[in-house]
Amino acid sequence: MALGIVAGTANPALAEAVAARLGTCLVATELERFPDGEIRPCLGPVRGADVYVVQPTGPPVNENLVELLLLLDACRRAGAGRVTAVVPYFGYARQDRRAGARQPIGARVAAEAIESAGAGRLVVVDPHTSSLEAMFTVPVEMLTAVPALAAAVRPAIEDGPVVVAPDLGAMRLARHFASLVTAPFAVVSKHRLDAVSVSAQDVVGDVHGRPVVVVDDMISTGATIEAAVGALRAHGAASGPVVAAIHGLFTGSALARLDRCALGRLVVTDSIAPTAGSPRAAPRPESQPSQSPPQPQQSPRQASKAHTPGLPSQTESIAGLLAEAVDRLHRSEPLEELLSRS
Ligand code: R5P
Repeated sequence: MALGIVAGTANPALAEAVAARLGTCLVATELERFPDGEIRPCLGPVRGADVYVVQPTGPPVNENLVELLLLLDACRRAGAGRVTAVVPYFGYARQDRRAGARQPIGARVAAEAIESAGAGRLVVVDPHTSSLEAMFTVPVEMLTAVPALAAAVRPAIEDGPVVVAPDLGAMRLARHFASLVTAPFAVVSKHRLDAVSVSAQDVVGDVHGRPVVVVDDMISTGATIEAAVGALRAHGAASGPVVAAIHGLFTGSALARLDRCALGRLVVTDSIAPTAGSPRAAPRPESQPSQSPPQPQQSPRQASKAHTPGLPSQTESIAGLLAEAVDRLHRSEPLEELLSRS
């Protein structure tokens, strides 16, 4: 079965890097936009192919989700042999339960839509909740970018660090990170006040006088990181905390908020495409050789230095991770060490 990589418009650079690593070109795709806001993708030939549709559903979440659904449907109707949705960042994953009466379960709705549009499998990177898997009846491969993130952050970590989860939900990820950099672990007790503000005062674990690395699955408004950094400072942590997150959404004034936190370094992956004004939109001068299988042109690791004053940042590419996963799935080989820990 031929391999086909289809790029949605949410992060075409990432899809292109994945295709390049696999020694193939993207399936030609055009997206028509109608005056009323409707979109209509049109694909090149995929009949009989093993197709991977790369489309993170970050902001604008609903727009990107609908485009993903249309691309999956187009693949199915065009006679693709097998269709996999590669959704590095899965929007709506935070809505994995009803937080109050008369609310939907957004993650479940998104899962059902993706499945019924034609996905025979989902590939996702460090979703907010591992319960996402149970919302699908088709196989879900939950990859982890924590090793790549830890490798990128390691040079910025000072001696005697403590890895900190900024809330209880980030504990699993932070523990994994701590084990990779051989550091002790602490957690901040966070209380969400509303969609854009949180409060955090308590820290469980000793951070006094220690350099800290705050690890989270995602940064949206930056409120969680801001609150955690404040709590860590109040508990005597060393200045210049390093912050590492898998998914950098940076909504609203998140970057300005983070800028005020006087971070030592901010590291995210490219699961979500940089937006205008984001430090990740800066040129990416550095590149290093790949550890991944087929690697025709592109580097596996791309780092961008921050151009936002006071906010030194870096982007770690997950193109190598995704390419490796696609390559193994295409060959029906196990993914094993690429998967996130439960
Ligand atoms: C929450 O449980 C997540 O792990 C993140 O901490 C949170 O969603 C980040 O959002 P924000 O940046 O808006 O605080």
